[in-house]
Amino acid sequence: MKNKAVTIKDVAKQSGVSISTVSQILNGNKDKFGKKTVENVLQAKTDLKYEPDYFARRMIMKKSKTIGVLVPDITNPFFSGVIRGIEAGLYKENYATLLCNADLDNQKESAYLEELSRRGVDGFIIASSNISNEAINKTLQAKDRPFIVIDQKKAEGFSDAVLTDDFQGGTLAGQHLQKLGHRKIAVLMPSNPPENVKQRFEGFKDNFELSDLTVIDTDLTKEAGQKAVESILRTSATAIFAVNDEIAFGVYRGLAEAGKTIPDDYSVVGYDNVDMCEYMQPQLTTIAQPIFELGQTTAELLLERISNSDKEWEEKHLPVQMIERNSTTML
Ligand code: RIB
Repeated sequence: MKNKAVTIKDVAKQSGVSISTVSQILNGNKDKFGKKTVENVLQAKTDLKYEPDYFARRMIMKKSKTIGVLVPDITNPFFSGVIRGIEAGLYKENYATLLCNADLDNQKESAYLEELSRRGVDGFIIASSNISNEAINKTLQAKDRPFIVIDQKKAEGFSDAVLTDDFQGGTLAGQHLQKLGHRKIAVLMPSNPPENVKQRFEGFKDNFELSDLTVIDTDLTKEAGQKAVESILRTSATAIFAVNDEIAFGVYRGLAEAGKTIPDDYSVVGYDNVDMCEYMQPQLTTIAQPIFELGQTTAELLLERISNSDKEWEEKHLPVQMIERNSTTML
């Protein structure tokens, strides 16, 4: 007959101590006990092949050492880069990352928020703008669940936040093209952009006559950027501002298919500075977001919140910077 699962009670019995002593020693509090006691417990764990059951542990410790992360699109290298930073910040403190990719599906985002709550994660990181404040309030705030919102989701005074300066990023992109003599610009952005993307346009447009800007409704994807080229060709634009690098990569393909060249026919500026920018031909001029640092700082701020739930809300601001490469040139 299959052996019954070994429990913490068996380890306590074999090492002659209480369950609480075994739990504290196996959870890193060895210093409170004598050397012999620690040795007996660790030897019993080895002899019995005992492995802590994290779900059972959650029942006792009310901690799962797991953080739920909700992002809109894992295929976008910006979000995979942020997740790398989050994972690095959590791993340092022995937390696991439970990733939920909404695949740009609003229903899935809300369902995931409920599911993460049911799975007993110790905290939440939300990067999706489609999660409503009502859903956050009902699922998290009302239950005092620690969470932090970043990027597309704005804190609006009810959570810690790690922000990058999107208005400044849009301004830098506009100043760069304006300095090169461009006046007529095609701006590729979603018709109903998340707040952070809206701020980029607000900063960008201050460098131009509004009538010289043609805003083309473009989702934050390569496919949408490629398709937008059809509309760009009908304008008198000499430059293109894509509100993220993925759109710009699609523009490269669409312009090539139309027999146009970058930067001679069109200067192109992206936003994010994902790794692929340097592998494009010509390399993409863009606005760099501190992607990995954004993730890592977010994880650190959430863990501080978990260990001190009463501290004041905190906002951290990370800088963006202009990365001039070869996809832009003088008019
Ligand atoms: O590429 C994804 C875009 O959406 C990035 O600019 C990021 O800021 C997110 O909001």
